[in-house]
Amino acid sequence: MSEDLAILEQNLLSEIQNASDENTLEDIRIRAIGKKGILSEKMKTLGKMTPEERKEMGPILNGLKGRITEALSTRKHILEEEALNVRLLREKVDVTLPPRFDPINEGRIHPVSQVIDEITAIFGDMGFGVADGPDLETDYYNFTALNFPEGHPAREMHDTFFLKEKEDGERLVLRTHTSPVQIRTMEKEEPPIRVIIPGRTYRCDSDQTHTPMFHQVEGLVIGEDIHMGHLKWTLEEFCKAFFEILSVKLRFRPSFFPFTEPSMEVDVGCTFAQGEVKIGEGDDWMEILGSGMVHPNVLKNGGIDPDKYSGFAFGVGIDRLAMLKYGAPDLRAFFDADYRWMKHYGFRPLDIPSMVGGLSS
Ligand code: DAH
Repeated sequence: MSEDLAILEQNLLSEIQNASDENTLEDIRIRAIGKKGILSEKMKTLGKMTPEERKEMGPILNGLKGRITEALSTRKHILEEEALNVRLLREKVDVTLPPRFDPINEGRIHPVSQVIDEITAIFGDMGFGVADGPDLETDYYNFTALNFPEGHPAREMHDTFFLKEKEDGERLVLRTHTSPVQIRTMEKEEPPIRVIIPGRTYRCDSDQTHTPMFHQVEGLVIGEDIHMGHLKWTLEEFCKAFFEILSVKLRFRPSFFPFTEPSMEVDVGCTFAQGEVKIGEGDDWMEILGSGMVHPNVLKNGGIDPDKYSGFAFGVGIDRLAMLKYGAPDLRAFFDADYRWMKHYGFRPLDIPSMVGGLSS
């Protein structure tokens, strides 16, 4: 009997020693000293023994139970400590590592998108809606409907990208300006019309201030009795808000566009000091946009009665505005997708431009 017990003790102790995790150890505990465990069953036999036998076996069994219990608890502590060490090793933080990439803090809004958002906020505040049209245009919308006569050199002025002629002889173009959306808007809407049209435009040209794809925003206002005073006020308010200055000097120079009569190019007063342009006051001028009163033929082509309605329009290069406002010297870098450039010139994604919250702060 006591030899059996010695073997049992040896076996249990070695099982306990070899238990590699707390679950295995718990199984051993239940099997050895649990309510129906081997030792508990042996304890129950004490009742059937003679007083002498009980006197001998009682302390033996109790001693055995005590040693097993102690071995279990020692092993349990060791296993707990080992598990903790493994966790600590796995969950350790290397404070010398750079912080994780985080879109809210690392992502940037491109200056062109930023300027489009700023322009939209400014004109939105003046009651303008936003319209758009396709990048691939028909010759009709890009030129003819805008009063460019057939074969007129003005069509060549635009360094147009023509697509291959289709079977029916039609030749689509990549729109050379956002002005075709003037016609598309007139066809869809009744006056009064107040829209801006930001979008991509294309011309075969590339140098420090020109890229084959660039951006324009068109403005169009049509109503009864719309006159040049409205145009001038709108552009002044826009320039003050956009350049975030209190006053601005504008100069209207007579010009020519087939779709406006009269046509004006608009210069903004500025100073050039130490290689830096300051917009607003000053004795120098910088051309920023083309504008004019919508030509009666264009109104007619858009299905609007020129005897009843008049309108003004303007077209601005968005990329140039972005370069001017944010001091980027080379337009081509706008489209290089260089993350270092974006980190420098880009805007934080949650700083959304608004007239109340601030445009660029
Ligand atoms: N579409 C002209 C261009 O790309 C810009 C322009 C000039 C637009 C005068 C207008 C305008 O709406 O009235 O050169």
